[in-house]
Amino acid sequence: MGDDLLSQIRLNGAAPRHVAVIMDGNGRWARERSLPRPLGHRAGMKAVREVVEGGLEAGVEVLTLFAFSEENWQRPATEISALMQLLEEYIAREVAELKDQGVAVHVLGDRTRLAPGARAAVERIERETRDGARLALNLCISYSSRGELARAARLLAEEVLKGVKRLEDIDEDAIRAKLYTAPWSDPDLLIRTSGECRLSNFLLWQLAYTELYITPVLWPDVTRRDLFQAILDYQGRERRFGRITA
Ligand code: FPP
Repeated sequence: MGDDLLSQIRLNGAAPRHVAVIMDGNGRWARERSLPRPLGHRAGMKAVREVVEGGLEAGVEVLTLFAFSEENWQRPATEISALMQLLEEYIAREVAELKDQGVAVHVLGDRTRLAPGARAAVERIERETRDGARLALNLCISYSSRGELARAARLLAEEVLKGVKRLEDIDEDAIRAKLYTAPWSDPDLLIRTSGECRLSNFLLWQLAYTELYITPVLWPDVTRRDLFQAILDYQGRERRFGRITA
């Protein structure tokens, strides 16, 4: 599926190395079908598999998915527990295949807030997939970008207080090194589904020069073709990083 688009991507040249995704629209997908919201999230798991497989096919090296924000803790308890259950189910169901496919899973965010079962599942998938060399799959869970930046500031302040770092060493690289995303380059492409045009406290630092792609498709309806369309659109852009073209 999507072979025509994939050949076009290959003809165009390099795929974006790092793609970030705000997976949005599960609730609306469920509402359109008069289903409870958790069934929208459940349907969204298939789309996660689609973009992981599409990412592997297209040669994406890092895929960062926004699965659960710190703000999402304010949703009704039933929805939160359904999402946490889905996370455990996703891990149990996908871990072996992700490992076989060469995917290394990392969970970014404040994992101290996760229930013990979810936390153990997260640690398990990170441990079991850590040798994956084809694709880094970052699942942002209990994540907020402002929280991540505040944490970075705290970690740096601690080092200054301990005398490990001097105040004048705190520059952009020092901050970058304390973000959850420190091991990876910034996203080249951000995809947001369901037509909303906002960043919702996601990767605010890292998205400074990222190309944005917004599609009206609701997350559960996303297939790898949508990822390929976004990549093709990206390949047609001119990235200037604040400079002018020669
Ligand atoms: C946003 O849709 C989506 C979420 C808050 C959860 C995303 C979760 C999944 C895709 C499934 C689980 C994934 C993994 C990796 C285990 P929304 O609820 O805000 O939708 P709405 O804006 O239409 O209400």
